[in-house]
Amino acid sequence: MNLIVFALPGNEAIARSLATALGAELGVSEVRHFPDGDSYIRLDTSVAGKTVILVSTLDRADEKFLPLSFMAATARDLGAICVGLVCPYLAYMRQDKRFRPGEAVSSVYFAKLLSETLDWLVTVDPHLHRHHSLDEIFSIPAVALHAAPYLASWIKDNVPEPVLIGPDSESEQWVAAVASGAGAPYVVLDKVRNGDRDVEVSVPDLGKDAGRTPVLVDDIISTGRTMIAGIRHLTTTGHRPPVCVGVHAVFAGDAYAALHAAGAAKIVTCNTIPHESNAIDVAAPIAEGVRRVLEHRGPA
Ligand code: R5P
Repeated sequence: MNLIVFALPGNEAIARSLATALGAELGVSEVRHFPDGDSYIRLDTSVAGKTVILVSTLDRADEKFLPLSFMAATARDLGAICVGLVCPYLAYMRQDKRFRPGEAVSSVYFAKLLSETLDWLVTVDPHLHRHHSLDEIFSIPAVALHAAPYLASWIKDNVPEPVLIGPDSESEQWVAAVASGAGAPYVVLDKVRNGDRDVEVSVPDLGKDAGRTPVLVDDIISTGRTMIAGIRHLTTTGHRPPVCVGVHAVFAGDAYAALHAAGAAKIVTCNTIPHESNAIDVAAPIAEGVRRVLEHRGPA
């Protein structure tokens, strides 16, 4: 199969790893803004007759979606056989119901937009809560890969005597999988979100594991307020300073500094969103996921 990978700005490292793992060509493109803010896109490597893989993680998706969609349209115009997307982080998944009258159910609308723009999509640990699978909202093949084994092996290798703490009961299955891979016990908290930056969690009851190193785990660290609430309880009840492990390093505003200031012993994330906390590499499973989707689709 004639594969070519293009990185949208900021995604160069993972695009390079992906191209190497897939034995694909790495395409050259130009993405910039005109002085008035409009996006300018140019594909400098031919895509005619090729399977195009665009790589763009989709945190801050509002600013990233338009260049991505223009690049997909350009590739099609210039003769690409199919255009897929690797988005290691998929935004909007938490808005999965109308919580208040009149709200947009953005996860559904964003999935529709992506389905209209691309032929397939591969992502890592999308926030599936009320939607149970991506197929419920995507009309294109959409593959969700799991970072749990990679989190587990990082914890096993780097944290002595860990005890894992999940943020809420919804995360229990996921936390249990990470804990089992790490060979560690776990607890989950009760969580109430009163506002974007106002989160309460229950006091962790570590029981006989109270002497172990607490590891707060979550799929997304956005404002950091969920983890900060956990850290506060742990530090005021005499536990060791916790290690914070997240899949997606969204880190809105001051979140990263605030997590450090709250007393996190260490903050570690996967490289689904480039960030200085990235320590867990998920490029290999992403390449495997792309291989699976392409084998399933065939050449066109
Ligand atoms: C929510 O259900 C997620 O699993 C995370 O707990 C949440 O996104 C964390 O957000 P924040 O960092 O803003 O507290």
